[in-house]
Amino acid sequence: MLRLDTRFLPDFPQALKAHEGILLAAREALLSRRKDPGAMLGWLDLPEDTETLRRIRRFREENPWVEDYVLLGIGGSALGPKALEAAFNGGRVRFHYVDHVEPEPVLRLLRTLDPRKTLVNAISKSGATAETLAALLVFLNWLKGHLGEGWRRHLVLTTDPKRGALRALAEREGLAAFPIPEGVGGRFSVLSPVGLLPLAFADADLDALLMGARQANANALAPLGESLPLQTALLHHLHRHLPIAVFMVYSERLKHLPAWFVQLHDESLGKRDREGRPVGTTAVPALGPQDQHAQVQLFREGPLDKLLTLVVPERPTEDLPLPPAEGLEGEAGYLFGKGLFTLLSAEAEATYRALAEAGQKVYTLYLPEVSPYAVGWLLQHLMWQTALLGELWGVNAFDQPGVELGKRLTFALLGRPGYGEG
Ligand code: PA5
Repeated sequence: MLRLDTRFLPDFPQALKAHEGILLAAREALLSRRKDPGAMLGWLDLPEDTETLRRIRRFREENPWVEDYVLLGIGGSALGPKALEAAFNGGRVRFHYVDHVEPEPVLRLLRTLDPRKTLVNAISKSGATAETLAALLVFLNWLKGHLGEGWRRHLVLTTDPKRGALRALAEREGLAAFPIPEGVGGRFSVLSPVGLLPLAFADADLDALLMGARQANANALAPLGESLPLQTALLHHLHRHLPIAVFMVYSERLKHLPAWFVQLHDESLGKRDREGRPVGTTAVPALGPQDQHAQVQLFREGPLDKLLTLVVPERPTEDLPLPPAEGLEGEAGYLFGKGLFTLLSAEAEATYRALAEAGQKVYTLYLPEVSPYAVGWLLQHLMWQTALLGELWGVNAFDQPGVELGKRLTFALLGRPGYGEG
């Protein structure tokens, strides 16, 4: 299971006891809304959805010809699959992400793909996001141009079960389509078909991923002393006066996870509270050990304005011993015979100590290893943490009025009917 280490925050156990009342009330408030689809708590039920998993597996088996998988989507419709696929792709299918609107990379991608071996997956809960629709227009045209009537087999849509342009297209053309349940918002959708469908094509262990998430749910409901989401939510709540929340992951395989967390944290919690006051802390992504040669200088000697979360695996899934080499005994002899993972662990521990010694507020979440089970647990844990912080900070963690405003202004500038002058 996940393990929380707060050894450099000695007052934390006492603070935990002192805040028991508000933490349990926050959890209770969330759970009391669980059955209301408008409360957007459907992500709590996703790990139990075996029927959708069965459909996804069948679709994967029916399409063994896929060699390239192109995911069209942005924000919550791209960041989760990107993070998980980078970690767990078994290597049979290549993945490409069009989560931008820069023409050159799209053209470069189109020139490298073989349409006969490509599956395009457009993902949009609303079916109205300009970036995703623009990419869909390009790929629809490309598929039809190359494959004629056969194009339909090469496009699968992931969208709202009833509404929106993607759902309408799926029905009109008889396309394969998977639902993002009504009560699940973009950044909480990674364990819905948004993440599971691409991961099925990456041959990732979906059972283990969902099992980990179920364990996170059980752990979230445990008594305060065992409930990690209550504890990490409190860490953020206690340090809410520090404007920056660094999320630093010691795993190359999880290099895209910080971007997923940044969106989850910032888009959920950067809001006006009930009294209209701005609240939120700014999540900053970091990667170990690379950022030890970049951002860690600032983390160590810059302003004491941060709460840092380190995410560190405790053991490798496979280690690589470092062989000795003649002539390098002087500089590298201390590495001879050690595993590469020993170096990774030592670097994470050294950073942890160095940051604490500098006076930064820092804690570590240890993953047993970078496995689908542990990462499923971590994702669901972080969604719980975010939802609890929404309760504690008096904001709706599940809307995004600032993002919606940007979408509406883009529509207006491009002359979409009903959105004002272009
Ligand atoms: O978390 C969110 O709700 C957003 O980041 C959305 O995922 C993003 O704006 C894309 O929206 P949609 O899936 O409707 O295209």
